[in-house]
Amino acid sequence: MSLTNFPGAGSSPAGAPITKVTMPALAEMKRQGKPISALTAYDYATSRLVDEAGIDLILVGDSLAMVVLGHDNTLSVTVDEMLHHTRAVRRAVRRALVVADMPFGSYHGSVAEGVRHAVRVVKEAGAEAVKIEGPRIDLVHALTDAEIPVIGHLGLTPQSVNRMGGYRVQARTPDSVLRLKDDAHALAESGAGVLVLEGVPREVATAITAELPIPTIGIGAGPDCDGQILVFHDLVNMTFAPPAKFVRRYADASALIRSAVEHYREDVEHHVFPSDEESYHLSAAVRTTLEDRKLRQA
Ligand code: KIV
Repeated sequence: MSLTNFPGAGSSPAGAPITKVTMPALAEMKRQGKPISALTAYDYATSRLVDEAGIDLILVGDSLAMVVLGHDNTLSVTVDEMLHHTRAVRRAVRRALVVADMPFGSYHGSVAEGVRHAVRVVKEAGAEAVKIEGPRIDLVHALTDAEIPVIGHLGLTPQSVNRMGGYRVQARTPDSVLRLKDDAHALAESGAGVLVLEGVPREVATAITAELPIPTIGIGAGPDCDGQILVFHDLVNMTFAPPAKFVRRYADASALIRSAVEHYREDVEHHVFPSDEESYHLSAAVRTTLEDRKLRQA
């Protein structure tokens, strides 16, 4: 078996062989100064498109709770819901690294509980790494010992929304900048392979990226991180709310889908859909037989 290509990874739609993105590959990208592209995705169809577009890392984020399930924050999503969506993503993805968020409550009670839930995410859903929020150093050690690659997440950590009193940019004072840097170093030293930096000043993310041996992936952290991640629904305008400052909308899927659905409804209402060409027909022979039988019955 090849060590670089998973069985079944096969080739891209264009026919080129696919080399699977792995945690060591991300470390190598940092060494080579190659930017890492990352996006969230939560279902089969979207994940296929994201993977086929060449994104390096797909995160089944707990933002699932908000952008897919309609909750107000990320706190309510469960391990079972994360498993369900991670499985769908895993079935779609051939090249990107598939990472699953550990949901709120699944690792906050104890290290043992965190490891048990992370094992489920890897074993039952096929995630290749898990992401955890905050400087949970003991848990990162334990997951690393359990052969589960870990992605840390510092700065604006949405699972801390109640403690933070809202979604606020973090690390704006000297003390909090130094604390964040210490936490970043501690996570890298305890075995985290990648660090997501969310909602922090550019200067802070730049310094941490330069100091850390592991790649940083920014969201609302400026352009100097080793990679960038956005929530898929933000990228294509499917979030039904004004975007945060750091979001760039690359397409208006809401407008596209709304217009397609309205057009369909109008066609149904005006008997324009389906047309005769979009209908199945009996063969001429069957039609003749039916006509004959009708005549004989008459
Ligand atoms: O859940 C999420 O979407 C995240 C981000 C880093 C985008 O954690």
